[in-house]
Amino acid sequence: MRIGYYQYCPEFGAPAQNLEKVQDTLAGVNADLIVLPELAFTGYFFEDRKELKTLAEDVSDSQTVIRLSKFCRDNDFHLVVGFAERQRDKLYNSALVIGPSGLIHTYRKLHLFNTEKEYFDPGNTPLEIVKIRGAKLGVMICFDWVFPEVARVLALQGADVLCHPSNLVLKHCQKAMITRSLENSVYSVTANRTGKEIRPRGELSFTGNSQIVGPKGDIMAQSNSEEDQVVVQTIDLAIARDKAITENNDLFGDRRPEFYNPLV
Ligand code: ACM
Repeated sequence: MRIGYYQYCPEFGAPAQNLEKVQDTLAGVNADLIVLPELAFTGYFFEDRKELKTLAEDVSDSQTVIRLSKFCRDNDFHLVVGFAERQRDKLYNSALVIGPSGLIHTYRKLHLFNTEKEYFDPGNTPLEIVKIRGAKLGVMICFDWVFPEVARVLALQGADVLCHPSNLVLKHCQKAMITRSLENSVYSVTANRTGKEIRPRGELSFTGNSQIVGPKGDIMAQSNSEEDQVVVQTIDLAIARDKAITENNDLFGDRRPEFYNPLV
């Protein structure tokens, strides 16, 4: 199975232009799955809920989803894309899994970061596994990395690969995702964006350094902080599914959930 990411700098408020860039770059790429950044088509730093509303789309009649579905069909791959989602009067920071058959899954970000709380509604979708081509995917978005419960819940349900669209502005995520992979024995793909947004509320710089991490915590690929880059790696699902640590230790079998009550 071949999984990867596309790191780039979306132009704020220009979804058609960003979609064209994604299609121009990814056409013909040999992969089963490619992860794009959080809010991959709209940009990130909205002025307010009103501005977000003008850019968010309902997945049931979204031109972006229609075009991406055809794009996946034409290229025989799957995409995980960050997406500004509107559903009736609600607005979600979502990630969509799209394949040759169309939209497969929607995840709505559970842990909103900073000013996102002012214009997005908190996510309300369960943490579920998405099956594609024999692989089990778990989807999380950016700031979800600070909450190890997210990766754990996905791993306990059998995730082989954590797909992690991101617009990172804090320093430590890429390092933390090494631990998320290691402590759950899963692959992780953090697809971060690059560049800066200078907007009415201020300026944000995004950290790039997108990466693919293996189940033993090894960095299989990492981009720099600035450049556009497509990276694809071949992975072995059997490695993620082997939860043995030593002959006497099993990552999940050794858990003591009867002592974890304060967690819930
Ligand atoms: C973030 O969650 N976009 C930092």
